[in-house]
Amino acid sequence: MTVTFISGATGGIGKAFSFACAKRGYDLFLTGRSEEKLSDLKGEIEKAHGVSVVTFACDLSDEKDRKALYDFAREKGLIVERIVNVAGVDTQLPFTEYSEEKLLFQIRVNVEATLSVTRALLELKKGNAEVITISSMSGVSPMPYFAVYSGTKALLTNVFTSLHYELKGDGVKVTTVLPGGVYTRPDINEQIRSQGIWGKLSAKTPEFVAEKSLKAVGKNKIKYIPGFFNRALNFFMKITPKKIVLSFIAKRWKNQRKDAFK
Ligand SMILES: NC(=O)c1ccc[n+]([C@@H]2O[C@H](COP(=O)([O-])OP(=O)(O)OC[C@H]3O[C@@H](n4cnc5c(N)ncnc54)[C@H](OP(=O)(O)O)[C@@H]3O)[C@@H](O)[C@H]2O)c1
Repeated sequence: MTVTFISGATGGIGKAFSFACAKRGYDLFLTGRSEEKLSDLKGEIEKAHGVSVVTFACDLSDEKDRKALYDFAREKGLIVERIVNVAGVDTQLPFTEYSEEKLLFQIRVNVEATLSVTRALLELKKGNAEVITISSMSGVSPMPYFAVYSGTKALLTNVFTSLHYELKGDGVKVTTVLPGGVYTRPDINEQIRSQGIWGKLSAKTPEFVAEKSLKAVGKNKIKYIPGFFNRALNFFMKITPKKIVLSFIAKRWKNQRKDAFK
């Protein structure tokens, strides 16, 4: 069976990708930590779109769980034609407010798991393939008070931009997606609202992000930033002196918190 693999399929953006892919007739291989959520999602998608959905629940921060995922895919004989890296922990805290557990968990899921999954599942491709990775606008510049989250996303953007070129000869299209705000969990929606007009201009629905990202990888775009406002912001951040950008970010985000553990 040839599949599109989606991590974080049970979350807001992952679910939107799952449905957008199913609508295109792609059979799916979905992961998340909750067996129950995955089973409900599989039922919904199969009923709505008539595609086949294989699921495997695992904690991607755990090396043993990841190995079990890869063994499962191999034993099932899955051929992976598309990898959509969505799973991520968007805890955004000042550095000194992180516990050791939160710090390592975020780095493991966002960085270690994303790179590990991509490497392992590319071994299961036959012929051409596509890789979409959900990074973030938060990785465009260092972000005082959101340093760790921003750093993990900057690494993803950096690595997958390199892979865009590195994997060209192997028939793999690699696109990195840098969303601004996306309406998903209630705490994220609240944070978007609390940013007033800036939040409103930046934010998109998960369905918008999924549809446009699938189109972008089809066109073999290196990077895709959803929304005109976010593309303009990206441009201005690049041409404005770093010092000004960093002090603006520090002032703006000092009192904001987002904690995926709550
Ligand atoms: N929403 C935004 O404003 C925004 C903006 C830019 C970028 N992003 C990025 O987009 C991605 C998805 O965000 P979202 O808003 O859709 O978040 P979400 O609704 O919280 O979904 C997160 C997904 O990641 C999975 N996940 C988390 N930790 C995991 C682990 N250890 N092992 C396996 N799966 C794990 C979750 O699975 P469970 O169901 O098991 O918890 C869930 O499916 C993240 O990478 C985030 O950084 C989001």
